[in-house]
Amino acid sequence: MNYYDKCVLELDNLRNADVVTTIAIESSCDETAVAILKNREVVVDLISSQIETHKKFGGVVPEIASRKHAEAIDNLVKAALAEAGLTFADIDIVAVTYGAGLLGALLVGVSYAKALAYALDKPLIAVDHVRGHIAANTIIHPDIAKPYVSLLCSGGHTEIVRVTEQGEETIGKTRDDAVGEAFDKVARVIGLPYPGGPEIEKAAKGIVPTIEFSRPLKDEPGYDFSYSGLKTQVINYVRNREQKGIVVDRGGVAAAFQRMAVSMLVDNTIRACVDSGISTVSAGGGVCANGYLREELAKACAARGITLYLPDKRLCTDNAAMIGARAYAMVREGASPASLALDAEPNL
Ligand code: KG4
Ligand code: ZN
Repeated sequence: MNYYDKCVLELDNLRNADVVTTIAIESSCDETAVAILKNREVVVDLISSQIETHKKFGGVVPEIASRKHAEAIDNLVKAALAEAGLTFADIDIVAVTYGAGLLGALLVGVSYAKALAYALDKPLIAVDHVRGHIAANTIIHPDIAKPYVSLLCSGGHTEIVRVTEQGEETIGKTRDDAVGEAFDKVARVIGLPYPGGPEIEKAAKGIVPTIEFSRPLKDEPGYDFSYSGLKTQVINYVRNREQKGIVVDRGGVAAAFQRMAVSMLVDNTIRACVDSGISTVSAGGGVCANGYLREELAKACAARGITLYLPDKRLCTDNAAMIGARAYAMVREGASPASLALDAEPNL
């Protein structure tokens, strides 16, 4: 029997197996990550971050990211097995992020995972990175009941999805920049290092902003966002001050931007719940590591009797545990194995 047909049978058996042991690989951007899970339980979750390297350039340099992934991946897989006290023989499935992300970076993980799956004669599961972020919550809260509203906010996506028994419907999304992208760009404009999100949060801490940025799409119905609109206001404010020789108050700008960026996320999410009669929110993505967003979302949900599920901060930013959790759900739902022709899909 050929490799693919064997994997189809194997996945069929695993669908009802007591324990599925997954090795998951994530290399879509600037973190090489490997995790091992037994069902949804995370046994090890390793991340080799490239942040210090890219910091020097003020952002992710794709070519360097790919090279760093290639350097790190094999050692990280071996370290994960060692830490878990397992060998390759214990692995049931190989899961990998195949998109969205940087093409060269994704290719490192995809090529490695294909070779590993084939060498082990085990099924390969191709995971959509964004779906991984959504699955992060299921690691700690496996039984989030439908219907719920899912808020996804990362460096590449800003979306509100209504999840019901009938399926998933994107009811709001950014029309231009993702919220994380806006955090990163605003940080750059006020002279803060990459990655900008955590730096803005730090700079804004304890400051009550006096600058008022206006809300993009304020009078429009629906749940869309425009973060480019907000970013442009910040840039204009900063440039205007600089031209007049006025010192820019970094903390004040960071706090005012953060307040509006977060208020847009929180308000649209709550409105989506109220309009749909839904009383559960599941949030995820790198920007959900932001303490101010976590507090504001928690307050707004509590005020309306909405139950909020938020992953730990560590599981909000890129990691392989969430990729493993998504792959596990796919196996239980009867997914097909990926073929060895699997390609990276940067714009998935
Ligand atoms: O989910 P993620 O790790 O990668 C993508 O899939 O994009 O998200 C990265 C984004 C970056 O834009 C980063 O600045 C932002 O998440 N981020 C934050 C915080 N931590 C990470 N934004 C605001 N506050 C934070 N604490
Ligand atoms: Zn991500």
